[in-house]
Amino acid sequence: MDFRYTDDQLAIQSVARDFAQKRIAPVAAEFDKSGEFPLENIREMGGLGLMGIEVPVEYGGAGMDSISYVLAMIEIAAADCAHSTIMSVNNTLYCNGLLKFATEEQKQKYVRPIASGQAIGAFALTEPQSGSDATAMRCRAVKQVDGSFVINGKKSWITSGPVAKYILLFAMTEPDKHARGVTAFLIDTARAGFHCGKTEPKLGIRASATCEIEFQDYRVGPEDVIGEEGHGFKIAMGVLDAGRIGIASQAVGLARAAYEATLTYARDRKAFGQAIGSFQMIQAKIADMKCKLDAAHWLTLRAAFAKQQVEHGAGGRFSTEAAVAKLTASEAAMWITHQAVQVHGGMGYSKEMPLERYFRDAKITEIYEGTSEIQRLVIARNETGLR
Ligand code: CAA
Repeated sequence: MDFRYTDDQLAIQSVARDFAQKRIAPVAAEFDKSGEFPLENIREMGGLGLMGIEVPVEYGGAGMDSISYVLAMIEIAAADCAHSTIMSVNNTLYCNGLLKFATEEQKQKYVRPIASGQAIGAFALTEPQSGSDATAMRCRAVKQVDGSFVINGKKSWITSGPVAKYILLFAMTEPDKHARGVTAFLIDTARAGFHCGKTEPKLGIRASATCEIEFQDYRVGPEDVIGEEGHGFKIAMGVLDAGRIGIASQAVGLARAAYEATLTYARDRKAFGQAIGSFQMIQAKIADMKCKLDAAHWLTLRAAFAKQQVEHGAGGRFSTEAAVAKLTASEAAMWITHQAVQVHGGMGYSKEMPLERYFRDAKITEIYEGTSEIQRLVIARNETGLR
């Protein structure tokens, strides 16, 4: 086993770290406060190849591997979780989904502008009444005699919804067939019948725009069906397997930032005449933080490695590895940011330091792209073979 990164992986890690520390970290608190979408930074990240890392160069991406994507995501998330949320949905839920399931013509048209960062992509599965139980969706796409579809319904919690140019949408075409009645569509948000609804007022990742979207007699031609009709649920699940590696990476980056801030504070802050890091109760927290962080880091890289193996012909799925990584990393991020606030005391609770933002941002990693409960369900079903 070789734990060393390649030169290309180290190069993209370095590019991401440099941009994250110079351009994102200094403005992260302001964007968190205003809730404004960081459009200029996202465009620049596109120019650096960070918005389509695994997308081949011929479709406008950086043509790199899944390990590179994890390393870059960690660096961006360590500076700001909201930026990394936008990056992850664009890279994985949108670009990788289309790369895997779209036709050559669809890839040329719909991947290039998004992978290059000129425009933003989104993914729409969740609805107001269906999150974990994704097949309970009510959004309907009714096939017409000419082969086109008319879509009506609402989707909610759509990351980048207010700014997206294209959206990978899942709608029910044959409700009686449940999971086998879902079809994936490519939505152009400039077309008639597409509307953005209320923006979600969120606890964390406040600079990532999240809204409801609504379709009112939105027409889509057969050329904008992604994959086969009735295969949409499997497409969504396959795309989410990859997405969960992105969220695991985000959680690792966030946890690392909280851990590093804690180490600095534990060395510098004095109490009872000593650095607080010399007290055993603080040392125990630091040791536990380090163990959880390292476990999350390496399980996330293992998931990326498993994804590469599957995509390079090994066959099967990497659902378990992705779920193990997301569950471990998101719970580590929640615990580590919680402990980081505690070690910092009043300063951890103050907006003068980023710890309270890390703590608020960490919570979403246990919820989106499949809650911790869904990750446990996926792992246990795959391990036992039972349902
Ligand atoms: N890859 C490919 N196919 C898969 C799959 C996978 N990982 N997982 C399941 N499938 C297939 C199954 O093989 C099955 O196929 P057949 O009909 O041929 O047998 C079909 O999909 C249905 O599978 P299940 O019976 O297991 O489906 P289920 O209804 O029991 O649901 C679930 C399983 C794991 C609970 C799933 O619904 C799930 O993951 N729910 C969570 C959804 C989620 O993560 N939502 C987040 C949305 S994105 C977001 O957060 C917003 C954002 O913008 C970031």
